[in-house]
Amino acid sequence: MGTADRWLTELPAGSIRATGVTLHRVRPDDLDELVDAVNASLGALRPWMPWAQAPATRQSIGEFLDQADRDWEGGREFQFAIRGRRGAEPEALIGCCGLHDRIGAGGLEIGYWVRSDCTGRGVATSAASALTASALGLDGVSRVEIHCDAANVRSAAIPPKLGFRLHRIEARPPISPGETDRHMIWVYPSSPPPAAADLQQVDDEDEGVVGRDPRSG
Ligand SMILES: CC(C)(COP(=O)(O)OP(=O)(O)OC[C@H]1O[C@@H](n2cnc3c(N)ncnc32)[C@H](O)[C@@H]1OP(=O)(O)O)[C@@H](O)C(=O)NCCC(=O)NCCS
Repeated sequence: MGTADRWLTELPAGSIRATGVTLHRVRPDDLDELVDAVNASLGALRPWMPWAQAPATRQSIGEFLDQADRDWEGGREFQFAIRGRRGAEPEALIGCCGLHDRIGAGGLEIGYWVRSDCTGRGVATSAASALTASALGLDGVSRVEIHCDAANVRSAAIPPKLGFRLHRIEARPPISPGETDRHMIWVYPSSPPPAAADLQQVDDEDEGVVGRDPRSG
């Protein structure tokens, strides 16, 4: 299926350079590294990720990769391997992140996780920053969101660093064991884009909102 019947008509680049890491569209070759990274991180993933309640297998990750490929081609979801330094390996698979078309037209949601022995050094922040810029560079995308449970303090530390604003906290029944029923919705840009009528009056400086590097706030 193509993207003709969807509001999102442009697909992101398959490789994105971020500070200290690179993001690459997931591909079949990622299989073994992905199984290893998930299983090395299960203790940290299980509280927050519904798909991480049991150890990953080559079959479960193979199915994920197949689905990711279909979703990319269909313009629904864009899953990236995060590659960067791990020990002596400069381009190891150290996490995953993605852009998801599940928050309505004009918006993409960012998701991320980082291999446990590579956390605490800015990997997720850097990946989310690059994905935000990539998403806002696509035709028709004017809003990026990061959703996380209020109890997930490590994840919730990331969006405000990138200039996202906490838009609301929704009551949502927990879907993973660490979750409360408080679901945070962080939004970027932090102020709504100008209404169409106002756009005719804006100058070049205002037009820069769409492509602005989120790290500049
Ligand atoms: C959440 C997660 C992606 C963070 O990855 P990471 O690469 O370590 O994140 P970063 O290093 O970019 O930033 C994490 C921030 O949380 C802060 N932090 C770390 N431990 C913390 C703690 N116990 N309490 C509060 N803040 C904490 C860090 O200090 C850092 O902020 P800083 O850069 O201002 O110091 C990673 O821990 C993970 O994969 N968790 C499991 C999956 C998950 O929860 N995914 C998100 C679902 S919404």
